[in-house]
Amino acid sequence: MTDMIATLSTKKENRLGKVLEHASGDKRFKILEAHMKKHQFKHDALIEVLHKAQELFGFLEEDLLLFIAHKLKLPASRVYGVATFYHFFTLKPKGQHTCVVCMGTACYVKGADKVLAAIEEKTGIKAGETTEDNQLSLLTARCIGACGIAPAVVYDGTVTPRQTPQTALDRVKGWTSHGN
Ligand code: FES
Repeated sequence: MTDMIATLSTKKENRLGKVLEHASGDKRFKILEAHMKKHQFKHDALIEVLHKAQELFGFLEEDLLLFIAHKLKLPASRVYGVATFYHFFTLKPKGQHTCVVCMGTACYVKGADKVLAAIEEKTGIKAGETTEDNQLSLLTARCIGACGIAPAVVYDGTVTPRQTPQTALDRVKGWTSHGN
């Protein structure tokens, strides 16, 4: 954990510019920032903000924690410490690749459940799990802010529109030993 916090501190110095650049092109960060603004960027809203971030992204990766720390003007180590302390937060899963299926209302009514079921069946894992070969982690999110292109799935950080069971399977098949 100390190593992770040290890594995060180094990353903070080296990576903040890149994180902010990436964030500017990703609507999920804008929604998260609006949420922080609603709480007037107060430090005691940290847990609430982390919940919102997990809903939007499916899990809390380091860049996201850096973004939150920067916006709330908190030390990265504090944000990371809270994210690791509570069991209901999921840090970046161990899979080489990540697939986050949005299960918010707009995506659900357009068939996100069928997309998720197809991936689960193909890979043999359930949402929240990682394949045995550590190639793919499958997660779900609640409204990633892309309702206009529902159902949306995020593959390795890229929000992808109008998914079907077939397009999703085509996308992940190279990532699992079950793929073909
Ligand atoms: S419900 Fe999926 S993007 Fe809004």
